Amino acid sequence: MIRFQPAVKFDKTATIIFLDKIQIQKRNFTLVTSATIRDTIKSIVEAGQFHGDEKETFPLIINKKLILLVGVGESHKVNLTAIRTIVRQAALSSYLKKSKEIDVIPQNRDDATIIAIIEGILIGTYSWDKYRTANDKIIRPFDRSYTIAVAAKTQYENAVITCQGLTLTRNLINDNADTVDSDFLEKTVSGLIRGKKNVTIEILNRKEMKSKGLNLHLAVNQGSPKEPKLIIVKYNGAGKSADYTALVGKGITFDTGGLNLKPTGHMETMRSDMSGAAAVIGTLKNVLALNLKTNIIFAVAVAENCIGSAAFKPGDVFRGYNGKTVEILNTDAEGRLVLADALAYIAKNYKPSRFIDLATLTGACVVALGYDFSGLVSNDDAFAQSLIAISNTTDDRAWQLPSYTEIKEYVKSEIADLKNVGLPKGAGGAITAAEFLRNFVNDIPWVHLDIAGSSFVDGKGRHYYGHGATGAGVRLLTSYLRSKE
Ligand code: BES
Ligand code: MN
Ligand code: ZN
Repeated sequence: MIRFQPAVKFDKTATIIFLDKIQIQKRNFTLVTSATIRDTIKSIVEAGQFHGDEKETFPLIINKKLILLVGVGESHKVNLTAIRTIVRQAALSSYLKKSKEIDVIPQNRDDATIIAIIEGILIGTYSWDKYRTANDKIIRPFDRSYTIAVAAKTQYENAVITCQGLTLTRNLINDNADTVDSDFLEKTVSGLIRGKKNVTIEILNRKEMKSKGLNLHLAVNQGSPKEPKLIIVKYNGAGKSADYTALVGKGITFDTGGLNLKPTGHMETMRSDMSGAAAVIGTLKNVLALNLKTNIIFAVAVAENCIGSAAFKPGDVFRGYNGKTVEILNTDAEGRLVLADALAYIAKNYKPSRFIDLATLTGACVVALGYDFSGLVSNDDAFAQSLIAISNTTDDRAWQLPSYTEIKEYVKSEIADLKNVGLPKGAGGAITAAEFLRNFVNDIPWVHLDIAGSSFVDGKGRHYYGHGATGAGVRLLTSYLRSKE
């Protein structure tokens, strides 16, 4: 929990004071509202014990309270990603492990800095420990309450709310594949919208998909005992306006690769293959909490890609909802199949003004861009640019990859309209996968975000994210939708 208060009172067991190198050189500590503490900091600085270098820490005990000085370097040179990382490190510092309530004094009061501090705390101290045997004596940094020394503003409250949806997204991704299955995702969505007046929901299960012809989605789920689902929430926040933004998330609750089975080393994190769906659901939570005055369609396409005698087979052809036939040349290219039917179904039945889809779609995107950017492909440059600009300010970053006329050749099949793989050896795999999807958006302005690299940390941590899901997409989508109000 985070609160805001114009000046902290130093009555908590611990206070973190962030200090910039320039402030230290000028001995300017005006944001520290206690003369005693200001004088102590001055004497420490004068004794050459603290310089304010990036990540430098210096603990003090004053009146039996811990004061942790944390350097942020020269703030104008340190970017806001680094600020988030410094804040995370400070909040996780072992000096604070006994503190339930912590006051925070920022190095300056720029809005972007305060939001970076909020996110450094709420995103940075998150950890997935549901299955770590509890030790009640340990205070989880994520459960602490923090007070930041700054006057409350709607933007800051909104940043806190945004992090709450982001946390839901991370929890959905991090939990077991057999816990967060299609029923669980349906229950999560219906729980979020319960009692809300301006939303309607449509759910297609196996039966409805069969009668309506969502055969690509059905093919992917063929080997699974679980119900496939296309869950669509229509949110009317802007009265009579016919303008709707449609968000579509890939929700493969587990991706074995199907009969083109993934090898060891590639399957262990595949419970995260519903990260796109989870980002859409986290965004839904945020939109409801913020009561945004814009119209949105939230869609999650849920299936499980299994092996077994019922699984769909390489070489077979299926006809999708929009009538196009697809030759399956690799059952591990399943995400584009469920998304194809979802996009076509929404294009036809909801006629949105624009689409944004999010998917852990290709390993090729990870090869191209690594982990710090989502890959963005679009059929509308202005739309792409508006999202890229927001991706930079929200630190939920995206980088554009090309879409061009000649690429259409690479997803043409010898025996069907399309095939679900692109060039040999996976060349250009991220952009050929996007090109496959483009065949189903019906020329509606569309942005595709490949979050295969950005959505999950399979290691100790990266920047201000710990191990596991990062919540990629949630800040970008929430902020984009706020810009549509
Ligand atoms: N879910 C994977 C993509 C993925 C890879 C996500 C690594 C996160 C981390 C996707 O379904 C997949 O398997 N894609 C194949 C496509 C190929 C068979 C054309 C891939 O990228 O190898
Ligand atoms: Mn796959
Ligand atoms: Zn997949």
